[in-house]
Amino acid sequence: MSDSTNSSLGFLSNWKFSLAVCVPCFAVGLGATYYFYSKSNYKNGRPLEPTAKHQEIDGNNATLNQLKTNGIDSKTVKVNKPTLSEQVEEFKKQGNAEFSKQNFEAAIMFYTQALSICPLSEKGLLSTVYQNRAAAYNKLNDYENCVADCDKALSLVPSYKKALSRRARALSELGNYKLALEDITAVVMLDEFKNQTDIMFADSVIKSLGKQNLEEYTKHNAFSLPTKIFIENYLKSFSEDPFNDEFPRTLMNLEINTGLELALKCLKNKTYEQIEDACKEELKKTDNSLIRRTLALNLLATFSILRGNYASGIEHLTAVIETSGVPNKLVINSLIKRASVYHQLDQVEKSYEDLKRAENIDPNSSEVFHHRAQIYLLEMNSEKAVEDFKRAVELNSKFILSNVQCCYAQYIHAKQTSNELDTEKFLNKLKGFVIKYPDYAESYTLYAQVKINITFFQYIKYILKCI
Ligand SMILES: *[C@@H]1O[C@H](CO)[C@@H](O)[C@H](O)[C@H]1NC(C)=O
Ligand SMILES: *[C@@H]1O[C@H](CO)[C@@H](O)[C@H](O)[C@H]1NC(C)=O
Ligand SMILES: *[C@@H]1O[C@H](CO)[C@@H](O)[C@H](O)[C@H]1NC(C)=O
Ligand SMILES: *[C@@H]1O[C@H](CO)[C@@H](O)[C@H](O)[C@H]1NC(C)=O
Ligand SMILES: *[C@@H]1O[C@H](CO)[C@@H](O)[C@H](O)[C@H]1NC(C)=O
Repeated sequence: MSDSTNSSLGFLSNWKFSLAVCVPCFAVGLGATYYFYSKSNYKNGRPLEPTAKHQEIDGNNATLNQLKTNGIDSKTVKVNKPTLSEQVEEFKKQGNAEFSKQNFEAAIMFYTQALSICPLSEKGLLSTVYQNRAAAYNKLNDYENCVADCDKALSLVPSYKKALSRRARALSELGNYKLALEDITAVVMLDEFKNQTDIMFADSVIKSLGKQNLEEYTKHNAFSLPTKIFIENYLKSFSEDPFNDEFPRTLMNLEINTGLELALKCLKNKTYEQIEDACKEELKKTDNSLIRRTLALNLLATFSILRGNYASGIEHLTAVIETSGVPNKLVINSLIKRASVYHQLDQVEKSYEDLKRAENIDPNSSEVFHHRAQIYLLEMNSEKAVEDFKRAVELNSKFILSNVQCCYAQYIHAKQTSNELDTEKFLNKLKGFVIKYPDYAESYTLYAQVKINITFFQYIKYILKCI
């Protein structure tokens, strides 16, 4: 079998893959999720962010904005005596003054002083000062410190666009294109695809990332794994996870630290880099049981695919699928995964064939319908997507992802058929999910996608075309 990944730019496999596998995952890959994570920064369906004018540093602060956004007049919180915050404000002002005089070291000193006395409760103010100090570090080409300060600013105000944009550029300078792309994509999304400068920068990051991945592939004969959060979300997209069964769970808890036991422990520990070697170790054994072998094969295939090595993924999955006596659940899981790879490789018919085969094995498996619906959605066949998602929900109403995505598909369908009443209805329902499952990242992501509307898909198509 020829390795189809040799000819393409590897990281894209991750993008395309997540596209093929799960729409919300994809947005995660794109970097949306964690900026919509924080409940406190995502009110009224609108992420809060400082709206300072387009200058290098922020004179405004996010707290003030937050008050404004929530409809509270900031003037009413005026105090007479200089508070700690006002002292911070003073240091910040001095820092800003030095900054505009191009005295970046001095600016950093003032910002650092401001930070040293700033109360932790002043999230907006703190994040602004961190952002400003990051800007100064940036001017000194100190990208490590720039990233570190952006990290802090963003941990306080997750959708702080300027800090995201700055971090993206600093990460890119440091050669960390993968994370840079996540950040800049979030910025592009927050701007609703209107800022050409940022879109062009995203493009350049994509190209650098592709080049970097190709070099890496040439060197190690493999691509690197996607980010941890991406992998986690991918694994979460399976409601009937074969690695969550009693047998693998028992193995996970044994003292043994080799082969399948080790692989499963790493899966649990999220030390993903070690999994493939551990699986290979298991497969070298000659006396292991059928279930052990096929679990190892499926797990190895999963990570091969995540790494963009489709040929090897297909090979291992096929070995599971064609072995008799394997539990249905594992066969179905393998068929779904192979189907998504075929879809990724533009072999759409083969993809549907595998899903049909999985459906025939268990017509009551919600998983099959859920994943086929996702493929329909990617093929822009929203009608069929809605049909399959509805069936998935019917069969497993507890799997929130199906519920949310079903609603999302209905929204897309309403949009495509210009049904304004339904568009409004499903948009409101999606908003409801955000309120109902505040900790459920996917619903945020989907809502973010809706905010961005169909343009999102156009952007994806555009990215796919570029590479
Ligand atoms: C920043 O927020 C603090 C309150 O946290 C406020 O006292 C101060 O006036 C604000 N600064 C600006 C420039 O808006
Ligand atoms: C577009 O993005 C760039 C870089 O982040 C920024 O400097 C510029 O002000 C933005 N333009 C608009 C119109 O928001
Ligand atoms: C998994 O994590 C636990 C606790 O953090 C640690 O003791 C153990 O060594 C880890 N195992 C592997 C295989 O990484
Ligand atoms: C699927 O579920 C329905 C209703 O619960 C049941 O009647 C049917 O026998 C099931 N089919 C299979 C193949 O398990
Ligand atoms: C998507 O959003 C853009 C910008 O907000 C808007 O111009 C466009 O009409 C929207 N498209 C759809 C299909 O809603």
